[in-house]
Amino acid sequence: MTQAKEHPMDERIAPLFSPFALHSLRLANRIVMAPMTRGFSPQGVPGADVADYYSRRADTGLIITEGVGVDHPAALGGSGVDGDNAPHMYGKAALSGWRAVIDAVHAAGGVIMPQLWHQGVMREMGTGPHPDTESVRPSGVWGPLDRTAMVSPDYIERVAAKPGRAMTDSEVGDVIEGFARSARWAMEAGFDGIAIHGAHGYMVDNFLWEGTNGRTDRWGGDHKGRTAFAAALVRAVRREIGPDPVINFRFSQWKQQDVRARLADTPRQLEEVLGPIADAGVDIFDGSQRYFDKPEFEGSPLNLAGWAKKLTGKASQTVGGVGLSSGVYDSKKTGGSDAARDNVHRVAERLARGEFDLVGVGRAIMHDPHWTRRIREGEDLLPFDENSRLVLT
Ligand SMILES: Cc1cc2nc3c(=O)[nH]c(=O)nc-3n(C[C@H](O)[C@H](O)[C@H](O)COP(=O)(O)O)c2cc1C
Repeated sequence: MTQAKEHPMDERIAPLFSPFALHSLRLANRIVMAPMTRGFSPQGVPGADVADYYSRRADTGLIITEGVGVDHPAALGGSGVDGDNAPHMYGKAALSGWRAVIDAVHAAGGVIMPQLWHQGVMREMGTGPHPDTESVRPSGVWGPLDRTAMVSPDYIERVAAKPGRAMTDSEVGDVIEGFARSARWAMEAGFDGIAIHGAHGYMVDNFLWEGTNGRTDRWGGDHKGRTAFAAALVRAVRREIGPDPVINFRFSQWKQQDVRARLADTPRQLEEVLGPIADAGVDIFDGSQRYFDKPEFEGSPLNLAGWAKKLTGKASQTVGGVGLSSGVYDSKKTGGSDAARDNVHRVAERLARGEFDLVGVGRAIMHDPHWTRRIREGEDLLPFDENSRLVLT
């Protein structure tokens, strides 16, 4: 701290270190650790190593945890990339594990929200905490099979066909209530808000995307009709946690089933998607992109988070390649990524212009617990190595 005073902060990064307040949420800076699945919670229970991992990163304004399975038997399993040993947000042992994580993060001065997760169509049958439970899918389908997917052909072959039946109305309600219960337990455990995984081809996104939702009942239809599930889910979570805690909702155009998928081709369509979800009670939209500096629609430099803020009037959060030269999909293919401080300056410029309110940083912070300090103090940033991600602490 004294060091920061002796060396005035580089003004190019200063916007990242301004405080943020929304309802009772108070963040010391605008940097958010993006949710990243790790698989370090055997039987779904986060232990002392998980508490250490997050508390070491407590100087980021907000930590959003890895995806945490909600209270529904088909929420978790193998999902092509991740899922084994993913934590739960239900059951005595897991909730008590989370209390210890929260205490450790708070003691280190941090703020933390869990990302509530249901894998939906991505869950592999016969795996996870309830292997005998059938997976649930809005329309029975995994998605179109002729696209560039982010998961392996082996996994797709194992998973795509089953179950080929659509969810019943009561199954839809069960998933929604599973999210609501887990949100309540999370707040009772002491989390500082709730993040909902509505992106990347998992359950909530399965309802939003035409590639996985061909329903013609109240849970499907056009862009707006396909938001009914997300809106009902957010309302149910809000009902359980009350008016104050912040709800952060992640959405994306891309899906693991199709890297080039789009939920919305125009701002108008995006408004139809996000409007009902905003009205249901979301406070922050987390627009997940692979590269934050990619304009979302022709004719404007705004990115996905920029449009979410403009169209809904809610706060928003960007993400995608901050501090690194290649995005999450590209670095997987090449084994890593160089550090890139220049794009941290660019994201800070956009933040200062008010395009969005918060800046998500994924791999860079996963790889380096001191990333936020390095940015603040002007220290060299580390390159990212894909191979080390599963042993990081
Ligand atoms: C190992 C790994 C696990 C991830 N797990 C999740 C997850 O559980 N939930 C989620 O919404 N995004 C997940 N993501 C995506 C990140 O939150 C983030 O959006 C992405 O890595 C882009 O940010 P970055 O370029 O700063 O890494 C994951 C990414 C990585 C690399």
